[in-house]
Amino acid sequence: MSGGAILRLGSLKDVGRFQRHVQALGLQIPCDPEIVTGAQSPLRWPLDRGLFKIGNRIAVQPMEGWDGTRDGAPSENTVRRWQRFGRSGGKLIWGGEAVAVSHEGRANPNQLLAAPHTQESLAHLRTVLRREHILTTGSDDGLVIGLQLTHSGRYCRPNEHSRPEPRILYHHPFLDRRLKLPPDYPLLTDAEIESIIEDFHRAAVMAWKLGFDFVDIKHCHGYLGHEFLSAHTREGRYGGTFEGRTRFLREIVEGIRSLCPGLQIGVRLSAIDTVPFHADPSQSVNGKSSTGVAESLPESLPYRWGFGVDPLNPTEADLSEPERFLSLLEELGIQLVNITAGSPYYNPHIQRPALYPPSDGYLPPEDPLVGVARQMEMTRQLKRRFPHLLMVGSGYSYLQDFLPHVAQAAVREGWVDFVGLGRMVLTYPGLLWEASEGSEIQRKRICRTFSDCTTAPRKGLPSGCYPLDEYYKDSDLAEKLKEAKKR
Ligand SMILES: Cc1cc2nc3c(=O)[nH]c(=O)nc-3n(C[C@H](O)[C@H](O)[C@H](O)COP(=O)(O)O)c2cc1C
Repeated sequence: MSGGAILRLGSLKDVGRFQRHVQALGLQIPCDPEIVTGAQSPLRWPLDRGLFKIGNRIAVQPMEGWDGTRDGAPSENTVRRWQRFGRSGGKLIWGGEAVAVSHEGRANPNQLLAAPHTQESLAHLRTVLRREHILTTGSDDGLVIGLQLTHSGRYCRPNEHSRPEPRILYHHPFLDRRLKLPPDYPLLTDAEIESIIEDFHRAAVMAWKLGFDFVDIKHCHGYLGHEFLSAHTREGRYGGTFEGRTRFLREIVEGIRSLCPGLQIGVRLSAIDTVPFHADPSQSVNGKSSTGVAESLPESLPYRWGFGVDPLNPTEADLSEPERFLSLLEELGIQLVNITAGSPYYNPHIQRPALYPPSDGYLPPEDPLVGVARQMEMTRQLKRRFPHLLMVGSGYSYLQDFLPHVAQAAVREGWVDFVGLGRMVLTYPGLLWEASEGSEIQRKRICRTFSDCTTAPRKGLPSGCYPLDEYYKDSDLAEKLKEAKKR
């Protein structure tokens, strides 16, 4: 299927047409025909459960900008992004963005770093966010702000944008090949893993002292935490059995509990996955872009390199281990979970459904609405199974003009507790807040998934919405991006 064959949602004039389109695709996506406003709006319902009092159901997803300084502090662009997170009116700020627990663990030389020399500037991000939030909503009651802690594992590039420095847990038949790793490329040793766990502890102490309400121990998108969950073939304490593969999380949690009493913990989880996809040149549409296809499966199954995939049919999801993982979170007293899927590196259509691929991507192999429905449905299943967990859902931005209708229905019908805004927050942070206030939606600010927010960092430039956000559109960076795309 090419991008051209997919109906553009922006061309649908009203919500009735959207509902009929969803039905015609055979998908189940809840959608309210009318937007409810004010305190009656499901998006404005407060949630008071266990340790959390969260003022509404709008969450801001972590969105990094590849725009920190070389030593890991925020830049002017970072500060602006966090201000806009605050302006969203969302009462749950899930982590702000990925912050590396060590220099070696950074995904790029501009990723934020949790370290003594950056702590004041990280505190400033929280302060400006809170200030903007109060200006938008009138108060910071029920505002909960986390910090996402990460180690990039296989996707470390701490020193040069063009130089991967992978830290891997096991050899992966497809992903090693993509990174050109030889069979004897060294694995992280157990001792190195222990030292990374200490880095997480140090970073959590810092976040706690700076006043963040929780830290997210990131387990998604192919980064280190997520790679642990699929480390079936790794020998030793941190791999193999479910117990071994979750030891990393358990040891991080244990340390945080003893060092930071009162600091809450959340986990962002890629709950489902598939085998990696790649652009298939035999399916080139315009001589440039090609449709994505799954890697050919290894001859012998089970597939032993996935988490949340059916080992006998690994292009399909299997929720049995993710459910076990959520049971473990409950046992560990962790209530906050953010459900996402796949990885931007090897199956972006699963993780962030889009009509237009980034420069290193492929044309969508399915209607992006299928991807939205997939994430929504698995989150619904997990929410049903774990009603006491507080769940954030992901992957809604592709819904564009109909995001408010779907978000309202999803919360009202209990598919999810919080609707997370990812790419949409870059273009139109106030979309859900304004919709639930009864303001008219500004259609020209709606994210159309052009993917420049990913293409720019792939070219070594800061992320941002280059097509729609004038701050980027009118900047020198836009020129550079244009040049880089031509090259
Ligand atoms: C530019 C960009 C930066 C992102 N940064 C992060 C991040 O720092 N941490 C994270 O967990 N996810 C990150 N994501 C993933 C988003 O949080 C979200 O899961 C994804 O974009 C799908 O949601 P959406 O449809 O609302 O965009 C990023 C995505 C994009 C496009």
